Amino acid sequence: MFPIEKFQEIRTPFYYYDMQLLDATLQQIRSSMTAGMHLHYAVKACAQPAVLARIAGAGFGADCVSGGEIQAALNAGFPADSIVFAGVGKSDWEIEMALNAGICCFNVESIPELEVISGIAARMDMKARVAFRINPNVGAHTHANITTGLAENKFGIDMQDMETVINMTRGMRNIRFTGLHFHIGSQILEMDDFAALCVRINELQDRLETAGIKDVTYINVGGGLGIDYQDPDHHPIPDFASYFDTYRHGLKLRAGQHLHFELGRAVVGQCGSLVSRVLYIKSNAIKNFCIVDAGMTDLIRPALYDAYHQIDNISAPATDETMVYDVVGPICESSDVFVKDYHMPPTHRGDMLVFRSAGAYGEIMSSRYNCRQLPGSYTSEDI
Ligand code: LLP
Repeated sequence: MFPIEKFQEIRTPFYYYDMQLLDATLQQIRSSMTAGMHLHYAVKACAQPAVLARIAGAGFGADCVSGGEIQAALNAGFPADSIVFAGVGKSDWEIEMALNAGICCFNVESIPELEVISGIAARMDMKARVAFRINPNVGAHTHANITTGLAENKFGIDMQDMETVINMTRGMRNIRFTGLHFHIGSQILEMDDFAALCVRINELQDRLETAGIKDVTYINVGGGLGIDYQDPDHHPIPDFASYFDTYRHGLKLRAGQHLHFELGRAVVGQCGSLVSRVLYIKSNAIKNFCIVDAGMTDLIRPALYDAYHQIDNISAPATDETMVYDVVGPICESSDVFVKDYHMPPTHRGDMLVFRSAGAYGEIMSSRYNCRQLPGSYTSEDI
């Protein structure tokens, strides 16, 4: 499955993207979606140019959270009017850039932000399309650092202020209100969590009707669909059919309303792997440390979220024998540990280890700490 021979020629660590799997995933998404549904790929998950271009080429839009992401999306060929722009802290230059590009919609997260967008749009003599990100106070069964839909999180506008902010736009000549935006968290595998969001959105829509607000055309439910980190070989493509069905059955859309999604992880997560080489095996009385040339600077998810990534030793001959290792990186931080007490075939200096399911929030979160080079980046079509 991995072109080991070709990997030998490349300096490690590097990211490797399986474009065939990406194509199959995009195809699966396309066939699970129905009329009136739109996907804006969450660029934050992975902005590798070839990967972005492939997603744009498949006809999907982009969800961006910075001017840099908007630029990356435009460079990759996403049409400007397929780009939504979210984030609690949009800078003035980013707002100007988005207006100049002609994006689809700003997902607005506060009243001060609405006022700034209105002011900038007036100065530029333009009209900004806005949706309000409402904090639905719906929990999700996932890691605390990646839940976003609870009142205690910094994201979105309080539900109780929804009518007020919408009515504020009535007096703003350079703002066009389009609808509502939500996002409850990431790496969500229980469809019930998305069903709970549907129930909340239905309640809010009833409230809007009572308040006489009838011009909601855009409902954006964010992203969050998780992937199988435990067993990527058996579940290389997430269950998009159940995901979209949950919304199709759970949401009571009104006539003329379009449903928008912002999936990131589910689109690219399983397509990417981090390839590294074993530098040293070091043993003491209680541990075998497998020290690799990739570190938390290349893949920070284990250190930051205790995330699990399957590790395959692709150099080891097939065997039933295993040994127990702590797989660690070279960075001067005690948290630079990928996994503790991990069973692998007997592993030696020079072996190639592949960290699986690293396509989302892997390469894009890499850093230059310790003055390290950023990891290399290749697709299956480059090598
Ligand atoms: N929309 C909004 C408003 C978001 O905040 C996010 C992710 C997404 C869409 C895409 O969510 P996805 O479909 O990828 O779950 N670095 C963390 C994940 C952070 C997610 C942030 N927001 C990780 O490595 O698990």
